[in-house]
Amino acid sequence: MLSHQDAVWFSNQLVSWYQLHGRKTLPWQINKSPYTTWLSEVMLQQTQVATVIPYFQRFVQHFPDVKTLAQAPLDQVLHLWTGLGYYARARNLHKAAQTIVAEHGGEFPTEFAQVLALPGIGRSTAGAVLSLALGQHHPILDGNCKRVLARFAAIAGWPGEKAVEQQLWQLAEQVTPQATVAEFNQAMMDLGASLCSRSKPDCAACPLKLKCKAALRGEQALFPGKKQKKQLPEKHSFWLLLQHENNLLLSQRPATGLWGGLFGFLEFSSEEERTGYLALHALAVDSVQELAAFRHTFSHFHLWIMPLQVKLKQCPSVVQEQSEATWFTMDKIPQVGLSAPAKQLFQQLVQCASSPKEQ
Ligand code: ADE
Repeated sequence: MLSHQDAVWFSNQLVSWYQLHGRKTLPWQINKSPYTTWLSEVMLQQTQVATVIPYFQRFVQHFPDVKTLAQAPLDQVLHLWTGLGYYARARNLHKAAQTIVAEHGGEFPTEFAQVLALPGIGRSTAGAVLSLALGQHHPILDGNCKRVLARFAAIAGWPGEKAVEQQLWQLAEQVTPQATVAEFNQAMMDLGASLCSRSKPDCAACPLKLKCKAALRGEQALFPGKKQKKQLPEKHSFWLLLQHENNLLLSQRPATGLWGGLFGFLEFSSEEERTGYLALHALAVDSVQELAAFRHTFSHFHLWIMPLQVKLKQCPSVVQEQSEATWFTMDKIPQVGLSAPAKQLFQQLVQCASSPKEQ
């Protein structure tokens, strides 16, 4: 929570900055209407201003008002959206236009609750449209504003969490002035998109620097907080590194799944299965050495790789036949697709072979 004095200071500083530095001549800022403001706000979600400009202009040429948009085939709407990405935005826009025709006589609604009820419009977008186009008093809180406010008041935690988001909304309500709300909201978005950027904020030029808690503490990088990483489950894979003289056995993995189509060492899901394999094939073992286990991380789990190096006295053909495996010379790294950990182990074994005393 800010003191009333700090809240007033915040909005005055920001509006003065906007008057000097803010953008006021973008295509959707000229001849503004709720319709064009809505369209631009939806296009600007997750997309930079420079990218949006030509799309906005083409879109408005084809669909100058809600009714034309509502009557257009969805395919044409999607076609004019091609390249902007996040196509659910275009589908929602089209659906919302049809709702506006059906329920509001084709005029973009001016009551907050009615705007919020339209597909694809959340609290922040509804507030942005009604404040920017009609000067109604609503706070906004898009990703850029969240960063500005989280830094200014040093609000800890990830804004995706309900409690953190609620705090940020409270702050947004506090700093949003009664007058000049359109300028203020545009200033918040512009500051967040320019000076108060995620990785290299230009605090020296910022109108809020004298009272920004994060800047005063030199902790800009800590706000807003990041999503806590989920603990990944841990799995184990028991690898058998069969060696015969100067050759190592590699087998090609199935085309789909982990390391699909790549070559790797023989792999088992338990220690027992691995030793069972050696026994089953009655392999003439010369020496056995357990190598250091190491962890490989995939997006959804950690895989502990437990390598066992087994040197064979003879080279049994049955191994090759049953596991679709191939012997590769250790004189060079095999010229096939190798999984990263397999390549690492292959190189390790080559090194050990060339300096056996260090094993
Ligand atoms: N992002 C979303 N709305 C915006 C706007 N009106 N100006 C700049 N960036 C934005």
